[in-house]
Amino acid sequence: MSAVSRQPTPPPTSVVVASPSERLTETDLIYFSSASENTRRFIDKLEVTAARIPLRRGDDSLVALRPFVLITPTYGGGEGTGAVPKQVVTFLNDPRNRGLLQGVIAAGNTNFGAAYGLAGDVISAKCRVPMLYRFELFGTPRDVERVRDGLDGFWHRAPNVAPDTPADEGIDKEDCSR
Ligand SMILES: Cc1cc2nc3c(=O)[nH]c(=O)nc-3n(C[C@H](O)[C@H](O)[C@H](O)COP(=O)(O)O)c2cc1C
Repeated sequence: MSAVSRQPTPPPTSVVVASPSERLTETDLIYFSSASENTRRFIDKLEVTAARIPLRRGDDSLVALRPFVLITPTYGGGEGTGAVPKQVVTFLNDPRNRGLLQGVIAAGNTNFGAAYGLAGDVISAKCRVPMLYRFELFGTPRDVERVRDGLDGFWHRAPNVAPDTPADEGIDKEDCSR
């Protein structure tokens, strides 16, 4: 008889199964940037690992595996609708992503007055996560420093948990991006 000892069966772990058209990410920073790429330039200056929400419809969709902060530009032109880019809406409509969102940072342009960085306010209200910062276009060196330091502090204070928000505030968490 063989003397091979059997390893104990490991306990079951939760597994996220990706479809062939999905890209999984373990980063704690996720961003969107349109073809003008201002936000991507800001991310480059941060010098941290970040995953980009796909720009084009046919691209693989992004699925977050860990709690993350979202950086998004604002669109909509101050019309009151469409402030959150469609690609970000699609990303947040996936409950796997929405459930891991911890905070939002918005880019924009002060030329849009009250709608400056509005995408962040919309997402913050509907997903009940803190609006952490807003900056213009691709950000100043001071913006880069403040966001880098702010994210460090944010993750030290709340590494894995969503902020404790009342469940009955009437904001529809099922639809947090429009
Ligand atoms: C058509 C259009 C509409 C925009 N609407 C807003 C707006 O409502 N509020 C705002 O703060 N910025 C607005 N912006 C400015 C963008 O948020 C800003 O240029 C941003 O840096 C774009 O980032 P991206 O190049 O990464 O996509 C708008 C820009 C365009 C082109």
